[in-house]
This record gives sequence, C-alpha cells and structure tokens, in this order.
Amino acid sequence: MKKTLLLLCAAGCMAACANRSSREAEMDKFVNRLMSQMTLEEKIGQLHLPTVGFDVTGPRMSGAVEQKIKDGQIGGVFNIYTPAAVRKLQEMAVTQTRLHIPLLFGYDVIHGHRTIYPIPLGLSATWDTELIQRIAAAVADEATADGLHWTFSPMVDIARDPRWGRVSEGAGEDPYLGAEIAKACVRGYEQGDLSKQNTLLSCIKHFALYGAAEAGRDYNTTDMSRLRMYNEYLPPYKAAVEAGASSIMTSFNEIDGVPATGNRWLLTDLLRRQWGFKGFVVTDYTAIAEMENHGVGDRARVAELAANAGADMDMVSEYFIDELPALVKAGRVKETTINDACRRILEAKYKLGLFDDPYRGITEERAAAQIMNAGKLALSKEAAVKSFVLLKNDRQTLPLDASKKIAFIGPLVKDQRNLIGNWSAAGDWQQAVSLWSALENKFAKNQSAKNAFLYAKGCNLIDDDALRDKLNRNGGEITPDSRSPQQLLAEAVQTARRADVVVAVLGEPFGMSGEAASRTDICLPAQQLALLKALKETGKPVVLALMNGRPLTLTWEHDHLDAILETWYAGTRAGDALADVLFGDANPSGKITMTFPRHVGQIPIYYNHKNTGRPFNDNEKYTSKYLDASNDPLYPFGHGLSYTQFTYSAVQLSDSTLTDGGSITASVTLTNSGSRAGEEVVQLYIRDKVGSITRPVKELKGFQKAALQPGESREITFMLTTEDLKFYNANLHWTAEPGEFWVFVGGDSATENKATFTLK
Ligand code: BGC
Repeated sequence: MKKTLLLLCAAGCMAACANRSSREAEMDKFVNRLMSQMTLEEKIGQLHLPTVGFDVTGPRMSGAVEQKIKDGQIGGVFNIYTPAAVRKLQEMAVTQTRLHIPLLFGYDVIHGHRTIYPIPLGLSATWDTELIQRIAAAVADEATADGLHWTFSPMVDIARDPRWGRVSEGAGEDPYLGAEIAKACVRGYEQGDLSKQNTLLSCIKHFALYGAAEAGRDYNTTDMSRLRMYNEYLPPYKAAVEAGASSIMTSFNEIDGVPATGNRWLLTDLLRRQWGFKGFVVTDYTAIAEMENHGVGDRARVAELAANAGADMDMVSEYFIDELPALVKAGRVKETTINDACRRILEAKYKLGLFDDPYRGITEERAAAQIMNAGKLALSKEAAVKSFVLLKNDRQTLPLDASKKIAFIGPLVKDQRNLIGNWSAAGDWQQAVSLWSALENKFAKNQSAKNAFLYAKGCNLIDDDALRDKLNRNGGEITPDSRSPQQLLAEAVQTARRADVVVAVLGEPFGMSGEAASRTDICLPAQQLALLKALKETGKPVVLALMNGRPLTLTWEHDHLDAILETWYAGTRAGDALADVLFGDANPSGKITMTFPRHVGQIPIYYNHKNTGRPFNDNEKYTSKYLDASNDPLYPFGHGLSYTQFTYSAVQLSDSTLTDGGSITASVTLTNSGSRAGEEVVQLYIRDKVGSITRPVKELKGFQKAALQPGESREITFMLTTEDLKFYNANLHWTAEPGEFWVFVGGDSATENKATFTLK
C-alpha cells in the first residue's frame, strides 16, 4: 500500500516537473522571440518603473509618462489600481506600443489592500503562520481583483531597535520566526503558481540589513560583520527566496561602504550565485539616484554601478532609461546585462499570464465580489483578536464584567483614523470600526450595560504643536480639541470617579511609526502619561489598551496600572476585536516578537544576545550592566499572557545524545490550569554551550500553538535534528559542532525550563 502510494507520488512529481519544464521551455521560446524583436532602448524601457497616480477619471500622469508608455519606455507602474484605471493604462500599453508588451502594476499592499489586517508586527505576534498565509492569500485575492499584479511585501528586515519606525512593517527581532513568517507570506501571495489570476507577485524587502540602521534612524548607515549578517540578519531573506519569491527590493542603506543598490557582492554573489535567486531585483524608491548622495559617483556612474551590481528595475529614479543606452554604447555596461534584466521582467509578466490576458480577468463584478467581502472582514477580525498581546493582568482585571460601570477614556476610544495604521494601501479608515461603535453594536440588545458605559476624551492624541504639524502634513488628521488640556483632564477624572473600572485607550498616532518615523524616545506622549497618572489617582482599577506600531517603554505603566493590552493598529475590524477581548468573548493569545525595553537607553535590546566575558551580575561592579537600570527588558521576546493560566512540566528528552544525522525529541506537558479555554504559543529555544565562535544565550528553534480547554493537558513534542543546531562558523560554513546543548521549552524567551543533551 505504502509502496503504491510512493510510486504514485513519484509519478505525480515527475509529471509536475515535466509540466514545469515544458512550461519553462515555452516561456523561454516566447521571451526569446519577443526579445529578438526588441531594440536596446525597448529592453531598457522594461527596466523602468515610475509611479502613476489616478482618480475616478482614470490614470493621472504627465504627458511625458504617457509618451514613454507609448514608446515602450516603461516596464511597469505603481500606485494605481481599480479595474477601470488599470484597464485604461494597460490598454495603452498593449494597443499603442510597437510590441504590445503589457505593464506590470505594483503597489505597497502591506497588511491588506482595502480590507486592512493588523500591521505586520501585530500579525507576527500571532505566531500563526497558517493564519498569515491565509491572510496573504486573501490579500492577493482582493488586490488582484482591483487590478494589481505585484505587492512590495513582505518586509523581512530583522529589527532590534524600536526607535526605527519601520519595525511596525516587519516580523520583529528573531531570524527563525522571521524566516517562517517570510515563507508564509510568499506562499500566500504567490500560491506557487502565478498563472492563477488571484495570485500576486511578492517582493521581499529591503535587501539587505535595512533594519540595522544606526541609532534606529531611518535610511541611516549599517555596518556589521559577515557572521552577524549570515547568522542573524540574512535568514528571513534567504528563506523567502527558497520559498519562491519572484522579486526582491534593494534597501536604502550601505553595506561594507557600498549602497545596497549598487552592491555587486550582495545582489549577484550572495543573492544569485549562493542562493540561486531566479526572480528580478527592483530598487527601492529613487535608490539609484540616492547613490549620488551616498557619494559613490555621478548619474552615469551610479546607474552603471546599479546595473552591474545586479539591479534589474529602477524604481522612479529614471537613471536607467536616461543613462544605460550610452553606458552600453561606451562598453561600461554589457548588453548581456541588459538582456538578463529585461528577460527576468518579461518572465515575471509571462508567469503572471499577462501575455495571454493583460487584464488578468479584472471586471467591476469581480472587484465588487472580492473587495471587503464578508469572508475577508471576518478574517480581519480573527487576525486582530489573535494579534493582541496581554502584557499584564493583575487580579484578573480583564476581562471586564459588563454589569459594572465602565469608563472608556482616551482619544482613541472613538477614533477610526488610526486603526488601520501606516502603509494601509487602499484601506479606507472611514470603514474601520472604532471601539466605541463596536461596543454600541455588541451591547445593542443590552441596554443596561450600554447605559453603564461612560466616555471622556481625556486628552489630545498629541499636544506638541510641531510634532502634530509634521504628522498632519502626511495625513495625520489630528485636530486638537477645542477644550483646554486642563478641561479634558478634569472631565476624564470626574468620569473615572463615577465608574467601577477605567479602560484608557491610548497610544501613538499612526504616523509616529512606519517609514521616516523614527523616534529618540519611545514612551507614550507626555499628556497621555499625565492622563494615566491622574486616572490612577482616582483609586479605580485602570486598564490600558494600547494602539501603537512599535515596542514602547511602559515602565511607569507596568508598575502602576492593573492591566495592559497591546493591540497595535489592528485594522478594519480593530474595534470589534477589542470589544470581544475586553469582555472575554475572546481570550488573548498573542506574544510579542520584539523585546519591550524598560528604558530607551537599553536599545538595542534583544533576547538572543551573547553572554560576554562578564555577564550581568548586580552584585559585582565589573560586569556588563548599567548603573541606573537593570539589564532585563520590561517584557521579554515571546511574552504574552492569557485570561487562563498555562503550566509547563519539566522538559523530557527522548535521548541525552544526538548523533549527526539523527534526531531527538523534546517534550513538555502543557496544562491549562485556569478556568477558561485558551491558546498558548509553546516556544523552544536552544543554547550551544561551547562553540568555535561565541553563540547566543538562546535561539528560537521551534514553536507550536496549542488550544486547551480548562483543566486539559497535552504533550507538546518538538523534534530536533542536527540541522537545528547549525550556524555559520568563522569561515561562513553552515555547520553543527559537537558538544553540550541546552534545550528550553516555555512560554517566553525568559524561560529557564531546560534539559541538556550532547551532540556527538
Ligand atoms: C519604501 C518601500 C516601498 C517603496 C514604494 C519606499 O520609500 O522604502 O518599502 O515599497 O517606497 O512605495
């Protein structure tokens, strides 16, 4: 039986491979024929990606762009969608150009297209790769119905510095979790088959090391050893390449003194030769032009550097179309380099089926059926619920008792604008459900509960005029209240006094995270903290529900408040999800994927650090520590509570030795020892005790989500093989070294629940 199955599988695989290679052969034939008719200028035209806006009348572009499309000088455009606008522009490309080559339509579809899901940092807090893959597929469904082919997502940059605003766009600080999430996104967007009309070409970004910008300041320099790169920063990009990502975007930063966009080691030696990447490389926005500012050459030189490094497509700079023809003629860029780049872009278009149907089946009907349909809205709520992290919950302050008088206080209680966060694509914040309207809905039939809800705004989201102006220049829409800060505060305190419990809904306006939104301090804005202090003084229990895009320093909040729930920017259904979690109709199960520091001065702070020669010891002066604060984070990577409690047995290993090529299992019995059903993210870490190079104090190597009823116990088993113990050694060889290992299993990265084994 097994043998027949194996034979059938083998036959199936062979047929699939044969199909694939015959499809590839057809593609080669098609692209060869097409390229044989193309002039050098037309090939270079395929490498040009400008941005084009649109409105109800269709694409909005200058005459120059229109002429360039007609002249075959543009390979794709971005920032335009809707079936009507896309159709209009595509029609121009396929009917009015000499070779009728369709355009590629890209867009930053980062955490939803029109239906918005939690920001990526929030999604990563679900630790649910199956859910993330489902979301990516739903996003692709919606975005393709709206005319798009290509998303500039996922961002897989490892980020250890929460001052950097773009931590909101990624999966946090861990290479293993980051790699798992990167794969899930690529699989969800591309479905392994771009010929299906509801799949999106993915784009891994930003290659590479963008998350390591010095001082957390966006676009800043990066500099790191190859060891750190290979072991800690590169794994998610590599995993996404292996999962079949079709494109990759260069980053703005330099690496080893050479901007990534012109870095041949990065784009050719590593990406293509070592990793075997077959897709195409697009630069980030004006990144080629910015190489002039980096100081590595003039217009012609930086275009030459980028092309020769391995950048295929120029986003916005226009340096490729302007400079490459002369560079080729002068022999500074080989024609074969242009051919390779052009071929890769034409191949992507071929795989998307654009030469068969340049419109990929878009119709108004399909858009109406797919955009913000009930399934997607339900998925948005499910994701929001699962992304919430209960950071603290003393004396079971949460969930709330609806029979009590509850004061909802804060500028985000009734807010819609901020819920969909930054990079919210075509999301319409006016469709987002605020907490207040979710409460009205939820308790529509429970008049007495509704009557017991009190509200006060309490403070402005931002009181700093200069900061508010900056945020408003980029769509912040923050209007200061007509009442004075003192009046707002007094009203909030009076409201809190009338209640049994206070829920303060506070955080960062969405523009305070994302691109170009670095902060030197990562605390709550001053007037929000003052509000919390005044609420605390009423003596009422205070719950803080946070909306923000990065880890914040919450030391005062942790020390004085009763419960803290991190909700990120949770998307279109944020309010509904929050209402369910606050009242216990859903149990939070998220775990943070970035360490929350106690103090900004601890940054960069991450769980998988090295031990040093003088590890922390508060009783010894000459150890690695601060005088004025402990080394510990406020909340460690992987932390997150539940309304129930989980207990872990000691770790059991199937063997105390692991032989090369073999495997062992590590198991714990997980028990839901509380009184509610709940889900726990069980995490496995290892520590390589002695290595030829120093090894981190802990490294995540596995995780599982387990849903348990009250009183239920379950054995959770992980398999470990030599592969899990490997790292890049000083010669950059991927290797596992014999010796002793600790294996930890627990509910966060601070767990000390461990067992020991030896690799022979
Ligand atoms: C960002 C990219 C984004 C691109 C296109 C850049 O400024 O760094 O992440 O994909 O713009 O909008």
